[in-house]
Amino acid sequence: MNIGILRESGTEKRVIITPEVVKSLIDMKAGVYIEKGAGEKATISDKQYVNAGASIGTKSDVFDICKVILKINNLTEEELKALKKDQVVVASLNPFINIQTVKKLADEKVTSFSMELVPRITRAQSMDILSSMATVAGYKAVLDAAMHLPKFFPMFMSAAGTIKPAKILILGAGVAGLQAIAIARKLGAVVEVFDVRSAVKDEVKSLGGKFIEVEGAVEDKNAGGYAVEQTEEFKERQAKLIHDHTIKSDVVICTAQIPGKRAPVLIKKETVEGMRSGSVIVDLAASTGGNCEITKDGETILYHEITIIGKSDYPSDMPYDSSLMFARNVLNFLKLIIDEEGNLNLDFEDEIIRNTCLTYNGEIIIDKVKSTM
Ligand code: NAI
Repeated sequence: MNIGILRESGTEKRVIITPEVVKSLIDMKAGVYIEKGAGEKATISDKQYVNAGASIGTKSDVFDICKVILKINNLTEEELKALKKDQVVVASLNPFINIQTVKKLADEKVTSFSMELVPRITRAQSMDILSSMATVAGYKAVLDAAMHLPKFFPMFMSAAGTIKPAKILILGAGVAGLQAIAIARKLGAVVEVFDVRSAVKDEVKSLGGKFIEVEGAVEDKNAGGYAVEQTEEFKERQAKLIHDHTIKSDVVICTAQIPGKRAPVLIKKETVEGMRSGSVIVDLAASTGGNCEITKDGETILYHEITIIGKSDYPSDMPYDSSLMFARNVLNFLKLIIDEEGNLNLDFEDEIIRNTCLTYNGEIIIDKVKSTM
């Protein structure tokens, strides 16, 4: 069975498969075809793919020769038109937004899997692209903040006297937040952290952060490690504490999210206005509305001398390692749907396959997506 890798469109710099993973796919008895230049922006040449055992071709070659088509982002109109019945697409299709894509995939009887639907369960950790990309985002957010801040992160003792370390506040200690804590601490900053899940308290402490507890958070052990909506009373108490800590911080990294909902607004306009000039907010939740009221997705703005960065494509800014992580996650998923003879084998009894499958045999499989339509 042949597997084809498409070149990403637009400003995306990542590529879904790296040469290391090409080798693994060939060991799994698959043929690998790469669209010319697919890895270029991630600093991976066609030659490196060929050396790993892949063949290079045009986009139409990939569609003509391959049973399985891989791409990180949604397919373009041209690519959707090129798809044939019974082909299989594995991508990050963002089905709640790209409704027309889902319809087309179902109409054409294409089997599709959307990698961001991989459930957050222990067995699927090695396939979890959201965690991989959040790790990159947490890392890059801190570096970006350090580059914008007119101060040092670490404490400095020099002949010119002592300079205090920067104070960093991190909202949300999930994957991105924990990574941000680790990097900010490595750079020598003093780190404070808010989260509504008490389970993360020890992790925050072990990374050297100070956990600020707000009494009365609603937690749901069945939410798969994710947060749930809070009561109005809790929100008010938390807002007051977050305000007090934000205005004393040099940098705020926002990572709080509740899956499927708008990001909670945790930093109000008045709080930003109370911050010291030159301070920096990096809002990783920008694409779902932002944790800061002022954030604009895809923009860096200056408001009352505070830099507010609303960037949603940090992984694309570090394309080599982001691609490596993404590729390994996809490889682990492919191992689940390809048998020892290198053929497709879809076991819908497997909850990872069932939950990740978007369209099959002309049907939209995920109920939540179906109801959106
Ligand atoms: P996660 O779900 O692992 O972590 C979010 C954390 O926020 C959880 O620990 C949750 O308990 C906490 N939280 C929820 N509501 C809260 C509240 N009211 N107060 C304090 N904490 C609260 O999510 P993950 O994977 O770490 O992603 C974080 C954000 O980063 C998401 O919005 C995601 O879309 C975004 N992201 C951004 C990227 C970028 O390039 N900007 C790339 C990848 C992810």
